[in-house]
Amino acid sequence: MIEKSIPKETIIKAVKKYKTPFYIYFENELVYRNQRIIKKFSNFLNHHNYYPIKALSNPQIIKILKLNGSYVECSSYPELIIAKSLGFKGDEIIFTSNNATPKEINLAVSLDSFINIDDIDFFISLLSTSIIPSKVIFRVNPGQRITINTNFSPPIKSQFGIPYERILESVKLAASTGIKTIGLHAMLTTNSLDHIHFVNLYELLFNLIETIWLKEKIKISIINIGGGIGIPYHQSQNEFNLDILISQINTINKKTRIPFKNEIVLQTEFGRYISGPCGFFVCRVLQIKESYRTYAYLDSSINNFMRTAFFKSYNHITVLSRKNVKNSQVYTLVGSLCDTIDIFAEEIELPRLDAGDIIVFHDVGAHAFSMSFNYNSSFRCKEILCYNDNDLKLIRREETCADLFSTLVLDESIKINYS
Ligand SMILES: Cc1ncc(COP(=O)(O)O)c(C=O)c1O
Repeated sequence: MIEKSIPKETIIKAVKKYKTPFYIYFENELVYRNQRIIKKFSNFLNHHNYYPIKALSNPQIIKILKLNGSYVECSSYPELIIAKSLGFKGDEIIFTSNNATPKEINLAVSLDSFINIDDIDFFISLLSTSIIPSKVIFRVNPGQRITINTNFSPPIKSQFGIPYERILESVKLAASTGIKTIGLHAMLTTNSLDHIHFVNLYELLFNLIETIWLKEKIKISIINIGGGIGIPYHQSQNEFNLDILISQINTINKKTRIPFKNEIVLQTEFGRYISGPCGFFVCRVLQIKESYRTYAYLDSSINNFMRTAFFKSYNHITVLSRKNVKNSQVYTLVGSLCDTIDIFAEEIELPRLDAGDIIVFHDVGAHAFSMSFNYNSSFRCKEILCYNDNDLKLIRREETCADLFSTLVLDESIKINYS
């Protein structure tokens, strides 16, 4: 099998300049993948991608995406603050409002964002306040009308979305309140390489728009199929086929009886597809421990990278400092948390490791650093950006004790001694 390619020289340069552990993101690849989405969809459809800030929330990265034509999806107050600070406004923001606080809704509405409504009772209570959005997107839970072939919960077990049967009621309510821009949204899976799922989802939403138009003459002008397009984490997998997805969506569009079909805007919230392959997580081996298994202790714990431990998912690993890949051994890669979950990879064959070797995890530019946490009072690590091909800059420093303790409210008798 061909080893996944890796920007080896740049990563080594970053290791020398900044100590491990760190994430490194490659601007060129990020821009390229973002442009690919924009170009492919714009050939055929009215389309905007709203990059989900939760996937990789460093504002330096979001700024690059903004400069390259991306909009944003926000799911919390701090994400709205990031969007606002970078100058996004109006149609350029979607606020996903499940279980949202009045403070969040206030900010989202003041930015004139699209509000993604997850619950009809929440919408009814919103309409009784003075904060009425000008554009809403109803998140549809289709129940058993669609099947999911990933590990994601099936819709009937998912907390997200308004039951399909109540969408008409929600739409009528919005129209009667004078809300002019109404959309439908559904996101039912994650990391799926199967285009058929997204075609089925699009068709389901499109048919619903048609039914509502024929029945009530209410115009729904937005279809949002969320995020969830996967990337080939395994070397044996292929890239998601965007061309087939787009051409099948177009076929559905052509069949419709809706008179305003050319005005319909397709929104997507692709995150992983755009930034996943742009990032690498880089650690060093601290020591090898022989026990019932052979363990390689890394200089990071899974607090920086929980994906493989929590979701039992796979990320390809390259041992950067080893040329002799023939001389291999089976290792379990662990960190230093006092918890047996602290395992990056279990019983995998790698080139023989020694203390000091550099371990690189691939495809960590989405849903990786942004899920990091502080258990065991562990520090979150640095983030580095590679720009202009080979220049490096620190875009987040490693946390310190002062960061960890900054939110404590303590008795006067307790003084944290940093020395
Ligand atoms: C509402 C919403 N949109 C978009 C995304 C991003 O999905 P992905 O990065 O898998 O494309 C998520 C989940 O992470 C989400 O919850």
